[in-house]
Amino acid sequence: MENHVSRDEYERMLEQNKQLNLSLNRMEDETSILRALFNKTHGELENIKRPALLVAEIMQIFDDKAVIKLTNGNQFYSYITEGLGVRAGDHVLVDQKSLNVVERIETFSNRDVERFVIMQKPDTTWKQIGGLSEAIEQVKEVIELPLKHPHLFEQVGIHPPKGVLLHGPPGTGKTLLAKAAATSTDSTFIEIVGSELVQKFIGEGSKLVKELFAMARAKAPSIVFIDEIDALAATRLETGTSGEREVSRTFMQLLAELDGFKSLDNVKIIAATNRLDILDPAIIRPGRLDRLIEVGLPDIVARNDILAVHTKGMKTKRVNISKLAAATDGFSGAELKALCTEAGYGAIRDERNYVAHTDFVAALEKVGRRNIEEIEPMFG
Ligand SMILES: Nc1ncnc2c1ncn2[C@@H]1O[C@H](COP(=O)(O)OP(=O)(O)OP(=O)(O)O)[C@@H](O)[C@H]1O
Ligand SMILES: [Mg+2]
Repeated sequence: MENHVSRDEYERMLEQNKQLNLSLNRMEDETSILRALFNKTHGELENIKRPALLVAEIMQIFDDKAVIKLTNGNQFYSYITEGLGVRAGDHVLVDQKSLNVVERIETFSNRDVERFVIMQKPDTTWKQIGGLSEAIEQVKEVIELPLKHPHLFEQVGIHPPKGVLLHGPPGTGKTLLAKAAATSTDSTFIEIVGSELVQKFIGEGSKLVKELFAMARAKAPSIVFIDEIDALAATRLETGTSGEREVSRTFMQLLAELDGFKSLDNVKIIAATNRLDILDPAIIRPGRLDRLIEVGLPDIVARNDILAVHTKGMKTKRVNISKLAAATDGFSGAELKALCTEAGYGAIRDERNYVAHTDFVAALEKVGRRNIEEIEPMFG
């Protein structure tokens, strides 16, 4: 039997179908919105149920494990989640139960410290320093000896000084001395410049100093080299402006760090300044940087030495170093080095592959500081 549907009825059913389709679409949309909402709420619920993570610091790394230190001071040996790329000194999040390191967190600290300090293993040796034999002896005694032979001090029962203060005119070898000390003791050399600390770290200087010393301890044996310490530790008549207050806060932190660590901590401090005259005496009080070492302009013997150091790698012919040493009274080591470089340029300009005495004479003339008669070449 055929089932005839009237045209009207057919139209009505078509319309009904369309309506049903529309509402189906709407309901599907609603479902997906509700599903998303459900997922979100579910996720939040999971987060709420998850125990908080602990904050810890990485003390030392051993492949996939690390010694971590919680903020309460307790230390653990725990696993590091793969691929975190954490380093000693980093702050991390640690699972409460397993104490596994699960995440690295950015805090002010090491990354910033590393951006502002220069850290390296230098290769400067004592041999590259001309003259300064007394200064070298003193640096060896205060820095090298305690780091290399701490038992000598334990035996006798004394604490070696925590560091030294090198003072003298620019370019006389202060930085060189500090680096050579780091090389000879195979220490990490951590350098910070006082004036930069003051300028770049407004508001954070004291924090940085703190982090700096924490890092020095983590990388021990290490030598902290504070160049231009006068920028931090200058005597001020009044600390009126906020900038000055900030500098003195940084300075106070530096003093606190100096007072805080034991002298056999495998961290040594070498500070340098051209302005001993304006230095705050607080910094050189006993127990702080109480060893003052003068790094002065070289005398004739030392100049001879320094010129020998810097001409050693040069190809020279008949250069009379002692005459040059005699003619360079008042030159610093850096200026003597510049003289050698300038003389070398003379050879290059003349298309020679060796440096002659006349090149040095011309270089001196250029520097324009000395009487040339004094150094006229010996052998024509
Ligand atoms: N006694 C020295 N023996 C050999 N080279 C020297 C000596 N003094 C300085 N120089 C040369 O001069 C360069 C600069 O010296 P250095 O950086 O040690 O001076 P400084 O005393 O730290 O100066 P500043 O007070 O300006 O920081 C050295 O890299 C080195 O080439
Ligand atoms: Mg220097």
